[in-house]
Amino acid sequence: MRRHVKVNVPATSGNLGPGFDVLGLALSLYNELSVTVMGPSGRRPSGRRPARRPPVIHIQGEGERTLHRDSRNIIFKAIKKVFKEAGRSVPQLELTCLNRIPLGRGLGSSAAAYASGLLAANQLLGNKFKRDRILLWASQFEGHPDDVVPAIEGGVRASFVLDHSIMNIKWPNPSLRMVVAIPDFELPTRKARKVLPKWVPLKDAVFNIAAVAVMREAFRRRHDWLRHILNDRLHEPYRSKLVPGFYRVKKAALASGAEGVILSGAGPTMLSFVKPSNAARVARAMERAFKQVGVKSRTMNLGIAKQGAIVK
Ligand code: HSE
Repeated sequence: MRRHVKVNVPATSGNLGPGFDVLGLALSLYNELSVTVMGPSGRRPSGRRPARRPPVIHIQGEGERTLHRDSRNIIFKAIKKVFKEAGRSVPQLELTCLNRIPLGRGLGSSAAAYASGLLAANQLLGNKFKRDRILLWASQFEGHPDDVVPAIEGGVRASFVLDHSIMNIKWPNPSLRMVVAIPDFELPTRKARKVLPKWVPLKDAVFNIAAVAVMREAFRRRHDWLRHILNDRLHEPYRSKLVPGFYRVKKAALASGAEGVILSGAGPTMLSFVKPSNAARVARAMERAFKQVGVKSRTMNLGIAKQGAIVK
């Protein structure tokens, strides 16, 4: 077994407006995980298990005061899953996490955690499992594939989940920047999924199907279509109530030159697709609009992470 591995994993934006639980893209903002095997390697040739020692976990950056530093840590849970599937016990591990992805904001922090844990463990075990398995387990941990698939594979991705596998395809990368406005409050995905209806009007479903069907071309050449087709009808109207200023921010960003504006994942972050020359103006407009309803926010101007997770 290898004794050391490093994984860089990007932030993601799920849904991309009308592609609820299906479309997502990887953003140029990375968490870094390094895993070192401290104890015996976990093999059980003599039938004797190595003594179970808790992991040693260091966290710096986002979540350094709040994230679990014991076996409840979700990176560690993902690592355990891979060892269990391989029939191996987990050796004592030292995890060092440098977190840049804000937590609970709709930027894929939990997807990054699951993805990095699964990929790190698989690398320690000599890449025993194929990419497809890792994608499936990551998606099962998350409950949907739209963040974990781009986190692992990079770029813009569309996914379809079957019982035992995931079909996923790469979409064209739009030649646009992504300006994200990140409010200073967390919105757990669990809570943001609870406000969704069980049933939606047929006309709203048809709107979303049509939007996704033409979106590839909107990403490739027809950026002028984005402002119309990104107005999702399956989740944003319901979740907008959880994000003060949602429509105000959208309107301000569009008026300042954004091509289209969406809720990033389950929110509360909002994401504008912009031409590079408009990025600074749109960022200011979004921050100002949030401020007008009493929400403090920070903005980032990000590109697409074409490669996804990098394992070294
Ligand atoms: N597709 C998921 C949702 C993304 O909207 O609930 C969560 O990051």
